[in-house]
Amino acid sequence: MKTALVTGANSGMGLTTTIELVKQGYHVVMVCRNTRRGKVAWISAKEQTRSEELTLMQCDLGSIESIRNFAEEFKKKFSKLDVLINNAGVVSLKRRLTDDRFESHLGVNHLGHFLLTNLLLDELKAAEQGRVVTVSSGAHKWGKIDFDDPYFEKGYNVARAYGRSKLANILFTKALAKRLEDTNVTSNAVHPGAVSTNIGVDRKTEFGKGVHKVLKPFFQSPEEGAATTVYLATSPEVEGVTGKYFYKMKEFAVSEEADNEWLAEELWGWSEERVGL
Ligand SMILES: NC(=O)c1ccc[n+]([C@@H]2O[C@H](COP(=O)([O-])OP(=O)(O)OC[C@H]3O[C@@H](n4cnc5c(N)ncnc54)[C@H](OP(=O)(O)O)[C@@H]3O)[C@@H](O)[C@H]2O)c1
Repeated sequence: MKTALVTGANSGMGLTTTIELVKQGYHVVMVCRNTRRGKVAWISAKEQTRSEELTLMQCDLGSIESIRNFAEEFKKKFSKLDVLINNAGVVSLKRRLTDDRFESHLGVNHLGHFLLTNLLLDELKAAEQGRVVTVSSGAHKWGKIDFDDPYFEKGYNVARAYGRSKLANILFTKALAKRLEDTNVTSNAVHPGAVSTNIGVDRKTEFGKGVHKVLKPFFQSPEEGAATTVYLATSPEVEGVTGKYFYKMKEFAVSEEADNEWLAEELWGWSEERVGL
């Protein structure tokens, strides 16, 4: 049986991706930062799929220690990983820092997944055809990488911070594909479109929920939003396709900045130093 790992599996597209992959015959490791929210989603996914092929594991992508502990625990349970879905994401109106003092968008959305993926490469290579799918966004077009002020110590703005992290997701996808050229592992990125989820909703105060309610009729459902992610994770049509960015199951153009190989390499080296690889 194939194994897939989904980060941020308790909410929005992470949960619908989990359910779809189980329905398609995968064992899914649901990686959630909050054990209580994770348990609720795990029970719901089991009910909706009528399957026991779901493992719940805890990991906070805003903590290097938590990611390293998680990877160790994962390796004790699983010797191969067929699909890694880097789906978790934050949008924060306020400038926040992770445990390691990284600005939260770049820290969680990019650096957390950067470390996680690198720690799981041996297990991905052990699969018949390993696939890494990183959920980026069209918002990468607003993003710029600034190595002099990566964490917005000056002029924080949520759109620019989120955009930077989603640009980093694509640069990472491409640099990873290059490193995996001679292996059986592919690396692709996705733009899911505008999707009605819990993105941007403050988990403590629930601030932002009202905005989602108003916009819901205009947005795609999480199932529609997750379709391209599931396609890249499972379809024989994209076996061997790597280093690409997809929207609506088709390859899509990225911004000039996201296509910059030099920048992708610089960001890779910078990220290695930050997470201690
Ligand atoms: N919704 C859209 O319109 C849209 C558009 C383009 C791209 N995207 C991307 O799609 C992906 C999924 O987002 P979504 O819309 O489904 O949002 P969502 O419903 O808010 O789900 C985000 C998930 O990420 C998890 N997460 C946040 N911080 C984490 C951390 N430090 N460690 C581990 N997990 C963490 C959340 O856990 P908690 O529930 O515990 O907070 C939640 O499970 C994100 O990468 C987002 O950037 C979304």
